[in-house]
Amino acid sequence: MNPPQKMKSKDVVYVNGNFVPRAEARISVEDRGFVFGDGVYEVLRVVSGKLFAARFHNDRLKRSLDGVRISLSGADTPEGFVEVGKQLLRENGLLDGQATLYIQITRGAATRAHNFPPADVLPTIYISVARFAPYAEFAQSGAPAISHPDLRWGRCDLKTLNLLPNVLASQTAKERGAFEAMLIRDGVVTEGTKTNFFGVVDGSLRTHPTNSHILPGITRSVLRDLAREVNIELDETPIRAAEIPRLTELFLTGTTTDVMPIVSLDDKPVGKGKPGELTRKLQRVLAESLASGSD
Ligand code: PDD
Repeated sequence: MNPPQKMKSKDVVYVNGNFVPRAEARISVEDRGFVFGDGVYEVLRVVSGKLFAARFHNDRLKRSLDGVRISLSGADTPEGFVEVGKQLLRENGLLDGQATLYIQITRGAATRAHNFPPADVLPTIYISVARFAPYAEFAQSGAPAISHPDLRWGRCDLKTLNLLPNVLASQTAKERGAFEAMLIRDGVVTEGTKTNFFGVVDGSLRTHPTNSHILPGITRSVLRDLAREVNIELDETPIRAAEIPRLTELFLTGTTTDVMPIVSLDDKPVGKGKPGELTRKLQRVLAESLASGSD
């Protein structure tokens, strides 16, 4: 008799109104996301089946859609996508532990032409979930980063699929043994390839203001509010590259990175070369907020 087969959890994704096994999910080769990177996305964190800060992600998704002029049709709404996400979490057995929810919308599939396709071409909607494990070791010890020129376009505030400069900088970081690349534009630290950067200079906590040069990170804004509750004010004056040697603490934030201490930059120690006090405090307050759930 064969030994009993271990039940394999389902791997179901959502494409254009249908829940399908991932291996059977299909989109057209003419999809504008594939051909032009013509689309937007969101990544949400899920803790014990609860979506963290979903309302903020919905607002940002609407802003990205408006910013690239993609109109959703009929019953499709960011709130509806979140409900689809919840169903996917159930179907894929991800209601316990941690997971991520990925939502991507492209301008649809049409014969290749740079200008928009005819109005009857509907957006392509792809939603999936995945098991997630936080970077526990680096969160404890702190991680290395490198600095890198920010080669992106002028609308980094929109969460678009056009991520080639991010991909290249992220790969360079990896090849240099670093966790993240800190991007520098016109002598100013903007953000990371998938994170926002914060630093302590002369005792004050600083980060780049929200403008078209950075993504308005959800973790960034949640953390700013949490910091205020523990009497830490955030100064949204960008850190200049020339100030980097004076940094006593450095950390980054993101949906999949939480508060991550950065203890070396370009192989030189930041501050004392270990996670600073303020970083540790903010790491704790964000962890508590994540654990208490949201939805
Ligand atoms: N990245 N900056 C950039 C360029 C990002 O791509 C991200 C998120 C952030 C942090 O934003 P938030 O706190 O909302 O996650 C900042 C996601 C996680 C990604 O592309 O996978």
